[in-house]
Amino acid sequence: MSKIKSLEDLRRLRVEQERNEITRQNTGVQVIVGMGTCGIAAGARDAMLTILEEINKRNLKVNITQTGCIGMCQHEPLIDVIIPGEDRITYGLVTKDIARKIVAEHIVNNNIVKEAVIGRIEKQ
Ligand code: FES
Repeated sequence: MSKIKSLEDLRRLRVEQERNEITRQNTGVQVIVGMGTCGIAAGARDAMLTILEEINKRNLKVNITQTGCIGMCQHEPLIDVIIPGEDRITYGLVTKDIARKIVAEHIVNNNIVKEAVIGRIEKQ
């Protein structure tokens, strides 16, 4: 990355990053795992590893990222699934079994795992 020397450089960088963000959102499936202290204490590592195993097993192209505390300890481990053009789904109390279902059913077949959904943000 080049050095930022002016306000114009900063604006250009911002536009570039926004463009990258849009490209990422429009081209791939995203899984976001809550890895705050409460998430980890509740088993987020197991959920994350299970998701990774299932994704690797099927050779899927999925962008997996981590996030921190979002203030819903009681529902940890929390996992968000974002499929371009679909609602963003937040899953809670994600066990290894549910993590496997999320990959097999939601990510592969686009069937939401209803029993584990705790939130939904409608597509924009
Ligand atoms: S530490 Fe659990 S919700 Fe913040």
